[in-house]
Amino acid sequence: MKVFGVIGNPVEHSLSPAMHNAAFRELEMDCVYHPFRVAPEYLGNAINGANALGFGGLNVTVPHKEQTLHFVKPDELALQIGAVNTIDFKNGIRGYNTDGLGAEKALTEKGIRIKGANISLVGAGGAAKAIAYHFSNLGANIDIFNRTLRRAEELARVVNGHAHGLDILGKSLENCDILINTTTVGMYPNLSESVVTREQLHSDLVVFDIVYNPLETKLLQEARAVGAKTIDGVGMLVHQGAEAFRIWTGRDPPVETMRKAVLEELSCRC
Ligand code: ATR
Repeated sequence: MKVFGVIGNPVEHSLSPAMHNAAFRELEMDCVYHPFRVAPEYLGNAINGANALGFGGLNVTVPHKEQTLHFVKPDELALQIGAVNTIDFKNGIRGYNTDGLGAEKALTEKGIRIKGANISLVGAGGAAKAIAYHFSNLGANIDIFNRTLRRAEELARVVNGHAHGLDILGKSLENCDILINTTTVGMYPNLSESVVTREQLHSDLVVFDIVYNPLETKLLQEARAVGAKTIDGVGMLVHQGAEAFRIWTGRDPPVETMRKAVLEELSCRC
């Protein structure tokens, strides 16, 4: 039996075990996926230990995505982003970041085109970086809005985008095609928060919130109310996992089985 897992701290609430174990069952693979809580001072030991024990692969989650770079050979995108969410052990200890590809697939599976789109990206943390690099490589025009302007400026510089404070986000949406929220604004327990007001949204927008707790954030509720197209955070979660699965196993991931497992797990927790 091959062992896979996710390392984080805390990690007990990760949806990845349910998602990957469902995929292994569907494809009748003799594999198991387990969450491992790893304290920061043991991160290197955990990664090298998993390699020594013959693990099939690891996902990496908060707070280890950046520090993992010191213990793996990252590919170019993970190095650019400065964060790793997937480790593969087949050819040495290699690090990847599938978050951007996950976001791309969450949009393209709904028929949304990224190349040439005007994107307003809210946030400048790890998730925003992964999306900004990947979408900029795909040919999107990216405006970054962040509470801390300096972080938006740093990210905008490297993806050839423009940086703004959060205060002007609402007024800037007129020419925007896709609004993406990567911040925790609107995430449980802050259910009444949103990065824009309802009046600032319009029906030609695609509004993508990477939050999946709740599935429909206040931002998405209001976007739906004005007739905008809405995309919740489950697609990105599932597709970043599916791409990790592909790296580890070389097989086409059973995306719909993985999505069903995530939705079931989320509904149990409500
Ligand atoms: P992640 O890796 O999940 O993206 P992160 O690196 O901690 O998490 O980034 C969180 C993002 O959410 C940041 O852009 C943060 O803004 P700052 O750079 O100003 O800290 C943003 N964020 C978090 N809470 C926020 C709030 N209440 N209002 C506005 N932005 C917020």
